[in-house]
Amino acid sequence: MPKSVDKSRRKLLLGGLALAAIGTAAFVKPRDVGANHRPYFQHLSGALDRAGLAHPTLVIDKGILQENIEVLKNNIDGKYAFRAVAKSLPSLPLLETVMAGADTSRLMLFHQPFINQVARRLPQSDVLLGKPMPVAAAANFYAAYDGQGFDASRQLQWLVDSPARLLQYQQLAQQLGVSMRINIELDVGLHRGGVKEDSELADMLTIIEADPKLAFSGLMGYEPHVAKVPGNKLAQRDKSMVIYSQRVALARQLLGRSLDGLTLNAAGSPTYQYYLEGEYPHNEMSAGSCLVKPTDFDIPSLADHRPAAFIATPVLKAVDRTEIPGVDGIGKLMAMWNPNRARTFFTYGGYWKATPESPAGLSINPLWGRSTNQEMLNGSASIKLQADDWVFLRPNQSEFVFLQFGDIAVYSEGEIVDQWPVFTQSSARLEG
Ligand SMILES: Cc1ncc(COP(=O)(O)O)c(C=O)c1O
Repeated sequence: MPKSVDKSRRKLLLGGLALAAIGTAAFVKPRDVGANHRPYFQHLSGALDRAGLAHPTLVIDKGILQENIEVLKNNIDGKYAFRAVAKSLPSLPLLETVMAGADTSRLMLFHQPFINQVARRLPQSDVLLGKPMPVAAAANFYAAYDGQGFDASRQLQWLVDSPARLLQYQQLAQQLGVSMRINIELDVGLHRGGVKEDSELADMLTIIEADPKLAFSGLMGYEPHVAKVPGNKLAQRDKSMVIYSQRVALARQLLGRSLDGLTLNAAGSPTYQYYLEGEYPHNEMSAGSCLVKPTDFDIPSLADHRPAAFIATPVLKAVDRTEIPGVDGIGKLMAMWNPNRARTFFTYGGYWKATPESPAGLSINPLWGRSTNQEMLNGSASIKLQADDWVFLRPNQSEFVFLQFGDIAVYSEGEIVDQWPVFTQSSARLEG
């Protein structure tokens, strides 16, 4: 037999075997992966009961939070300043804990009402905006800002992404008679806006330098794509940092002075560990999510951080079967095929951006669908969960999800020791 025919037949055979393997895998009967709460969640359940909690609750394990802060501090090791990302840690006492633990007064904020709340309650903080606000939102900040303790002209950097927006901010500064610090957003490869051309940066610096009400406070180049795009992450990092360095060099040349004392911000949770060795143009890094580690941050570059946040919600009803309305018998069939559909638990609330964590083996029923009122979860007969017991989920992200439960329950050394209010969405102007 000619060699090439032999080769192609072998290929065909191997291909057939691979297909057969994939086909079998799709039809392999699932095994029982259910298990009762492990001791950590048994203890947490007891603490929630003793605290008298009985509704969906966001829990932060303070010990793990503090460990994560230590991990971050040890990793950064003084090489950069650290700025806490408030949208990922949206509670004043949570931010205070992080600021004290990480020894920083720097915050990155993303929402006008939260800027007013920080200015009022954390007047020592140094605030950089993480996104460019409509100029009307900036005007709303000043309207609600009483100036007490927090000096916006020194402690607040507005993020501006284009010459057009800069002109709007300039007009607002003139109208209000206030001085503004302007940090310029760079596009270092994320392509979510920000300065892309030398000419834009030059125009913006010229406007700022010519106006005594405006001060250039630095640059911000966020690059989460570095950790996400397929392929060589370090090459992506280097590409982004080449752009960043070019912008720094241009600004230095145009201004005729060093930018060393300015805020040169980069990075976020997924990427901060890419900068621990080597020389880079930025002098501070921001992060927030890695300190509570929602599931979206279960990534190799954060392997040394641990989950510190859980959603706890009571089981309202525990049933020893699965029934789907309108399709008699289908629930039984599902359970016969998959032992992890043998039992049904309806929880207090649901449909959060979150993944069931404990007891092990819980899942959403794809036929029943989702509910924000009483969510259906299925699990195997190995799970001895009853009504009034707790189910735990892990948020997929902390941003926004943390705001859905009222006060955060703080878990420390086996008890709920504190309740941390989250940022409110209400207009800071009405709040007074
Ligand atoms: C500008 C900016 N910097 C940093 C971060 C990092 O936040 P985190 O550490 O929570 O991922 C974000 C998140 O969206 C961001 O938009």
